[in-house]
Amino acid sequence: MQPENTNLKAPWLDKEAENAETVYGANTEPDFKAVVEEGLNRRDLIKGVFTGAAIAATGGLAAQPAAAATTGLTFKPIQLTKKADFIDVPEGYDAGLVIAWGNPVTANAPEFDPMRQNGATQSQQFGYNCDMVTYHSLPSWNSTNSRRGLLCVNHEYTDPVAMFPSYGTPTKDQVDAELAAHGVSVIEIEEFYGVWQYNANSGYNRRITGETEMLITGPAAGDPLMQTSADRTGTRVKGTLNNCAGGQTPWGTFLTSEENFNQYFANRNSMAAGVNRDNMARLGTTGGASARRWESFYDRFDQAKEPNEANRFGWTVEIDPYDPNSMPKKRTSMGRCKHECASTTIAQNGQVVVYSGDDERFDYVYKFVTAGVFNRDNRAANMDLLDNGVLYVAKFNADGSGVWLPVVHGQGPLTMANGWRNQADVLIRLRQAGDALGATRMDRPEDVEVNPVTGIVYIACTNNTQRGVGAALGPDAANPRANNRSGHIIEIKEAGNDHTRTTFNWGIFMLCGDPDDKAQGTYFAGAPREKVSPIGAPDMLAFDNQGNLWIGTDGMQSAIGWQDALYACVTEGPERGTLMPFMNMPIGAETCGPAFTPDNETLFVAVQHPGEGGTFAAPTSNWPYGTGIPRPGIVFVKKSWGRGPIGS
Ligand code: FEO
Ligand code: CA
Ligand code: CA
Repeated sequence: MQPENTNLKAPWLDKEAENAETVYGANTEPDFKAVVEEGLNRRDLIKGVFTGAAIAATGGLAAQPAAAATTGLTFKPIQLTKKADFIDVPEGYDAGLVIAWGNPVTANAPEFDPMRQNGATQSQQFGYNCDMVTYHSLPSWNSTNSRRGLLCVNHEYTDPVAMFPSYGTPTKDQVDAELAAHGVSVIEIEEFYGVWQYNANSGYNRRITGETEMLITGPAAGDPLMQTSADRTGTRVKGTLNNCAGGQTPWGTFLTSEENFNQYFANRNSMAAGVNRDNMARLGTTGGASARRWESFYDRFDQAKEPNEANRFGWTVEIDPYDPNSMPKKRTSMGRCKHECASTTIAQNGQVVVYSGDDERFDYVYKFVTAGVFNRDNRAANMDLLDNGVLYVAKFNADGSGVWLPVVHGQGPLTMANGWRNQADVLIRLRQAGDALGATRMDRPEDVEVNPVTGIVYIACTNNTQRGVGAALGPDAANPRANNRSGHIIEIKEAGNDHTRTTFNWGIFMLCGDPDDKAQGTYFAGAPREKVSPIGAPDMLAFDNQGNLWIGTDGMQSAIGWQDALYACVTEGPERGTLMPFMNMPIGAETCGPAFTPDNETLFVAVQHPGEGGTFAAPTSNWPYGTGIPRPGIVFVKKSWGRGPIGS
């Protein structure tokens, strides 16, 4: 255990989180004027936080304590762009393509032919719309090799009008290609003289698709609501869909989280009335025909025929990339919602904590604390750690304190008397459990990441253009802006900097937008307006090993006019809040990934949905090949001459 740091000067962090009480019931929302004043006060309070030495994340795989805060962010920022169909990186850096949609992944995969895609071809090739990226060193899970490793990449969703030469009412080949273009790719990659290439013949390479068989584990496995006509046991499911962000466990597995799974399931209005249908409505499954029409070919996507299949989606999936024959596992202990991510950290006592956001307007932030502890000497002992533990949902109080409310059957309102059957029921109806507990309704919580140097947790709330609009819920302290089109970032410090604790303090780290936009109002952790870049719609977060926060945006163009980009930002010391753009995305693309090698000398970024809004016949981007249809892909970024940490 590391000694607790005593150099935390920020008033909001000095408050005794331990004294916050667990209070069940609806939030009391402060009035608008009070919210603004509270927000302004909080912004003043946060200035100058972490001016002392960096603290070590406690225990586990944490970095060694730093003697002094060294940010290393000395790169010359790029110019933001409005219609660039290329990737720009700072002077002294190079970016190169690692792999793109359709490239062969498995040993006998056919070459990409967009005129003839089907399930058989696509299931052996790199999938569409790459999102989360993690790097796993080879030859083994506890290696720190930064020259050869496995990339785990998930494929969030398909865009059939951009993928197929003609698309109207889909054919079965098209549906099968789409199912196969979802899921995950595992590829072996290696660096040769500064250039990363993937090995198309590696035995590690693997495609996991919307059809790959997976095990359902944890409290909800086998529950009647998980049983279907194809799986009476409620423990086996075909595939994973709409994987957004995820994480990497301390034992080297990949976590990938199912987000907007609702869109694949048709005909909710034809389900029998009752708890199951009400829950599907809360999650937004489709009332009538789905836009994708997969139900035309597969009954499991028709809720009238298979009312429980959708209950088998919305989970976090664990995959072992080091064992290409391992079966992916849907870990139900972490609950079912539109999970954005699953970011892990090791607590002081060795318990593992997984943070996640539910990306929907007015939904919640969660964390899961394992019952067992991480065993660094025996990997096998960790492989089912995520099946047992306690799930919590966050309540942010207006005074800067917060509480993690246990999402546990029998506790608080989650009782038999209130209609909750058991923990499986609670997890399958997680959003409704959060409603009952009175958790704080957030502005679309996306990525949640833990700073490896300080232990502070960062939450990206990407935007919420409905906040305070019409009859919708108005602003509160943690979501202080009405019509929040640019989003914000919250930081929280767990009580005692112990990630297993159930109380915390929090503050606003960044109110995004154009710093010159006085109407919307912005805040950059106290950094002066002239030293920061515009930013909108923060989504993916990552930390380098210096504790600098890297922020990828999704939808910045509609928020403030600039193409999506990747930024770096200092989180402590006198430069705290100084936000600089590092990399822009091509036309229509969202900034995904980002992942660093252990030595911090390579950055991987996923370019998702380049040319979004275009069609196969009329593409709006030609990235990455400069001709033809756009192809989502993974790029690496390195310093051009010699080696050096990314950001320097
Ligand atoms: Fe798939 Fe919440 O972004
Ligand atoms: Ca995302
Ligand atoms: Ca997003």
